[in-house]
This record gives sequence, structure tokens and C-alpha cells, in this order.
Amino acid sequence: MSSGVEIRESLPEDVALIEALYPSAFPDEDLLPLVRELLKEGPAVLSLVAIADEALAGHVVFTTCSVAGSPDEVALLGPLAVAPARQKQGIGSAIVRAGLQQVQSAGASQVYVLGDPAYYSRFGFAPDENVTSPYPLPEEWRGAWQSLSLSGDKSPLQGALSVPEPWRKPALWGP
Ligand SMILES: CC(C)(COP(=O)(O)OP(=O)(O)OC[C@H]1O[C@@H](n2cnc3c(N)ncnc32)[C@H](O)[C@@H]1OP(=O)(O)O)[C@@H](O)C(=O)NCCC(=O)NCCS
Repeated sequence: MSSGVEIRESLPEDVALIEALYPSAFPDEDLLPLVRELLKEGPAVLSLVAIADEALAGHVVFTTCSVAGSPDEVALLGPLAVAPARQKQGIGSAIVRAGLQQVQSAGASQVYVLGDPAYYSRFGFAPDENVTSPYPLPEEWRGAWQSLSLSGDKSPLQGALSVPEPWRKPALWGP
């Protein structure tokens, strides 16, 4: 990763910069309503920023969730965005790894993500067929629903992922 990148929890004064980051990283997708709601969600949400050269270079959210019928605390990773000028410098990987460490320390046993396996496999994520996404996914997205165990060899959870309100929008779970 490029030197001099600071990763820390986002502050209220970062919100305007975070809101500017998403349209530049995702020109074809409007994630701002989701991001805004997540930032208001309180302790269930871990929001990390990467700062490089005193500018916002990346942002990621981890949301605490549960699996129906299980006492385990789990997390949902996303959204994740790196500023276009800062991509492919290891910032996305660094901010994801920092978040994984934090949610593991906070007690999460498993992390789920809906994203490109070509990217998320580098962290150890693999397709998950034991826990289902909150809304049915189109067939071509099935392999994009992945999980990573943070609790060693524990037997896999089974059930449906239960998410807080900002994630309860079917449009977030389909093309
Ligand atoms: C995806 C994203 C977060 C990665 O951040 P980053 O800081 O560029 O990632 P890193 O530098 O840690 O890793 C770069 C590697 O990821 C790969 N990569 C980047 N985006 C990818 C994608 N959508 N799918 C698969 N691989 C991807 C790069 O090709 C590079 O591969 P290499 O290590 O083999 O050279 C960033 O490119 C981004 O914000 N993209 C636009 C938004 C987006 O697509 N977000 C969803 C994430 S699936």
C-alpha cells in the first residue's frame, strides 16, 4: 500500500467527502441513500475512512447483523469505495482488512458480502450457500454472495441473514 495512508473511523466532518466519493467511484450506481442511512445507524455500523495526502481516498462500511435462529453476531461488508485516482494502490485491501480486524475484535463470527469474487477472494471470502441473503438474488449473482469465517473451524451458520432497516430494500439486492 502507498505510504502515509491513515485508516480511522469516520467523523461527522467526513460526511460531505464520503458523499462526494461514491458518485465518483460508482458513476452508474446511486449508493448515496444507502450510505447516508448507514451513517445515521449508530453503533451497529462501523464506518472506516482511508485518508491519503490529507484527502479522502476510501470508505467502507461494516453493518452488524444476525442470522435467524443463531445467537452469533455477524457483519455485512459494504459499500466499499476507493477514489478513482487512488485505486490499485492497496487502499481497498487495507481498509477492508482493518475493518475485518475490528469486527472480529468486536465479536463477529462471520462476515458476508455481495460483491465480485475476483476481488473478495483475496481476503478469504468464498461463496456461501448456508446463509441466504436477505432478498433472493438473481441466478447470475449467486456466486457473488460470499462469506468469511472469523471464528476458526466453527460449523457454518445456517439460515437467513437479518439486516437492519437501511439494507431492507430489494433494489439493493438485484441488478
Ligand atoms: C473495488 C475497489 C474498492 C478496489 O479498491 P482498490 O484500492 O483499487 O483495491 P486494491 O488496490 O486493494 O486491489 C487492487 C486489485 O483489485 C482488483 N480489482 C479492483 N476492482 C475490482 C473488481 N471490481 N473486481 C475484481 N477485481 C478488482 C484490481 O484489478 C487489483 O488486482 P491485482 O491486485 O491483481 O492487481 C475500487 O476499485 C473501487 O472503489 N471500485 C469502484 C467501486 C466498486 O466497484 N466497488 C465494489 C467492490 S466489488
